[in-house]
Amino acid sequence: MEGPGAATGRRLLVLGAGPAQLGLLAAARERGLFVIALDRDPAAPGFRYADRRAIISTEDEQGIERLAAAERVEGLIAPGIDWPVGIAARVADKMGLAHPLSPAAAALAVSKQRQRELLAQAGVPQPRWQLARMAEEGLPVPAVVKAPDRQGQKGLTLVRSEEELPGAIAAAIEESRSGVALVEEVVDGPEVTVNAFSLRGEYHPLTVTDRLTAEPPAFGVALAHVWPSEAGGKAAEVAESAVKALGIEDGPTYTQLRVGPEGPQVIEVAARLGGGHDAELVKLALGVDLNGLALQAALGESIWSAALHPSPQVGGAVVRFLVPPEGTLKEVEGVEEARAVDGVQDVRVYRVPGHVFGPFRRGADRAGAVLAAGDSREEALERAEEAARLIRFEVGAESLV
Ligand SMILES: Nc1ncnc2c1ncn2[C@@H]1O[C@H](COP(=O)(O)OP(=O)(O)OP(=O)(O)O)[C@@H](O)[C@H]1O
Ligand SMILES: [Mg+2]
Repeated sequence: MEGPGAATGRRLLVLGAGPAQLGLLAAARERGLFVIALDRDPAAPGFRYADRRAIISTEDEQGIERLAAAERVEGLIAPGIDWPVGIAARVADKMGLAHPLSPAAAALAVSKQRQRELLAQAGVPQPRWQLARMAEEGLPVPAVVKAPDRQGQKGLTLVRSEEELPGAIAAAIEESRSGVALVEEVVDGPEVTVNAFSLRGEYHPLTVTDRLTAEPPAFGVALAHVWPSEAGGKAAEVAESAVKALGIEDGPTYTQLRVGPEGPQVIEVAARLGGGHDAELVKLALGVDLNGLALQAALGESIWSAALHPSPQVGGAVVRFLVPPEGTLKEVEGVEEARAVDGVQDVRVYRVPGHVFGPFRRGADRAGAVLAAGDSREEALERAEEAARLIRFEVGAESLV
């Protein structure tokens, strides 16, 4: 049977060409789409899959609008970053292009604050929260303090004591587009991710994965996604209620939850593919071509629900991220050896020599990822670990002064 995939030759604008877009860009190239990719970083690794590249920020809405018109694109997609999800929906709407998300739904999806409000109205389980415009008295501690409209742990702090609060609030406000900080109860428990696809209002959950995260100072940074989940429980049901509460009726979603003593609580929903090679993990685990489906949705092509039927392919599957040492990258060694490890499906290295790795704090500080499968989640994890051990980032210190 032919997998899903958008028709050859159609012109697609992809917002972002960084690590989070690699899978979708590769899939678009494989299908023979005409891909125009944009990123402000000329060294973005995804540019290698593009037919045309534009050095434009993924947040430059006017620039993106001009480019989309000049290139006569037939669809836009922001597969891996939040803010541009809103831009893609607005530009598609202005151009009269079919798009899975309405501008209104996209605007909700890119605000953690609007999400909190809507989830509260709909009674979806989530941490208690409040807004802060300054380091006020009486805010609860411990808390997770974050910017309501950023991602990738920008402005995000786990606050463990009163003394840490003012600095955390100032950091969140500094990163925030709206000048407020979101202060949330800490949900204590394992974390899971639900990757799903909505079709004409129906929610189709695909993978539920355990998200293994780093401790402070890199609090919240994903180190691995592991399938099948051990902690998941009712996560898919809760994710469905969240996605529906936000009015998302079509296209991919990525929902983060933490499973506390009262069950899964929604951390947030993203109205896009996951940024950690989640679509490739879905394909490896369940045989569902999530990148192909996202491409079709972005181009307004009709999708059959049969394409969403999961059929387990392996016993376990893992995305394991690579954490580099600090310094200026000179060389990456061991990639071929890592690829040769049993069950390793792919190895992705995000950076080229000359890149400066700072201290490990955020998702953007990760250096690559290994995608591996096995007969069980344990075997997939062991194989991913073995591959990761073989990959060495040789760094020098000269540019770190
Ligand atoms: N209220 C909370 N309770 C417990 N952990 C939390 C809470 N909020 C955030 N976290 C942790 O921080 C991580 C990132 O949170 P969030 O998604 O809100 O920020 P982000 O900047 O969008 O990060 P990312 O880009 O990784 O999704 C979560 O995956 C989780 O590990
Ligand atoms: Mg998030």
